Amino acid sequence: EDAEKGEYRHYMLKEIFEQPVALQRTLEGRLGSVADLDGLFSKNADLLERVRFIQIIACGTSYHAGMIARYWLEALAGVPCQVEVASEFRYRTHVVPEGTLFVTISQSGETADTLAALRATNSPNYVGRLAVCNVDSSSLVRESELVLLTRAGPEIGVASTKAFTTQLAALKMLVLAMARVRGVDEATIQAQLDELRQLPGLIQQVLLLDDEIEKLAEQFVEKNHTLFLGRGTQYPVAMEGALKLKEISYIHAEAYPAGELKHGPLALVDKEMPVVAVAPNDELLEKLKSNLQEVRARGGELFIFADGDAALENEDGMTVLNMPAVPECLIPIVYTVPLQLLSYHVAVMRGTDVDQPRNLAKSVTVE
Ligand code: G6P
Repeated sequence: EDAEKGEYRHYMLKEIFEQPVALQRTLEGRLGSVADLDGLFSKNADLLERVRFIQIIACGTSYHAGMIARYWLEALAGVPCQVEVASEFRYRTHVVPEGTLFVTISQSGETADTLAALRATNSPNYVGRLAVCNVDSSSLVRESELVLLTRAGPEIGVASTKAFTTQLAALKMLVLAMARVRGVDEATIQAQLDELRQLPGLIQQVLLLDDEIEKLAEQFVEKNHTLFLGRGTQYPVAMEGALKLKEISYIHAEAYPAGELKHGPLALVDKEMPVVAVAPNDELLEKLKSNLQEVRARGGELFIFADGDAALENEDGMTVLNMPAVPECLIPIVYTVPLQLLSYHVAVMRGTDVDQPRNLAKSVTVE
């Protein structure tokens, strides 16, 4: 039943709207109390105690999930972490620090480059291999000592949506489990567990913005280039937003950490290139606002997904879409959703094959 399109025009739209349920399933039974984190892995959980470094490997959308997890791991669990796309990592000589946990992230568990990178982990410095994956019976899961399953259900649309947000929820639980092992105080961990429980409801609220986002999409249909901006964990969110737009609407989209604007992309800014920004109410908001000013001052057209308290208003050249208030630890998960909807509607208006975009495959099982 999960794999039927039902009342939805495309699988992608159905999968976007399934996110509250998919997230609920992914979190279920895993975050009642801090002690539940000890049961996150059914076997080999003691491996976590020996972890001193984390190497994350993935491709495509899953790579963006890894980038976000890195911010979380270093900030909350204090574990140094690197993230790399599999096709680069597997072909370069790299140093494996002692006590490295090798983490793969993959919806399918069959992506050729990710699997090949996993199969090449022969250094004694690895303490173990963990797969964050949506397919229980996949090669990646079978060949890893530790497994964290996302429970997104089958994802049919080539552009990944619910697989991504459930990966982030699973990775957040991994980060909390690591934080626990490394002695972070219970109250901090408990507070984040409590916030995680709000996630399905928050996503539901964002889905109510669908009509408004569809209207916004009209302004992108005739464009050839777009720029997505974010800072901190919103930088990978911007990358994911740009990837979605290019995959399904065939509009060139580039993502930049907003603080880097002045080192190049500012030269591109004009009326013809919409600039999308993600502006939650976090510690980088004021910095981001001054970056947005740089865009406005050059006649750029801004579209901002902002917290209602961010004090950003609609003005000439600046369209603001208000998002609900979101606890800091959930921001990247929640702010991904309006970007998914935006690309979806732009693609529909441009008449592309949304679920099966040209030249792309759902699972890339050959190199
Ligand atoms: C393909 C898909 C993407 C996906 C990537 C990695 O490029 O079109 O949506 O993110 O593969 O796939 P994986 O199954 O490893 O997450």
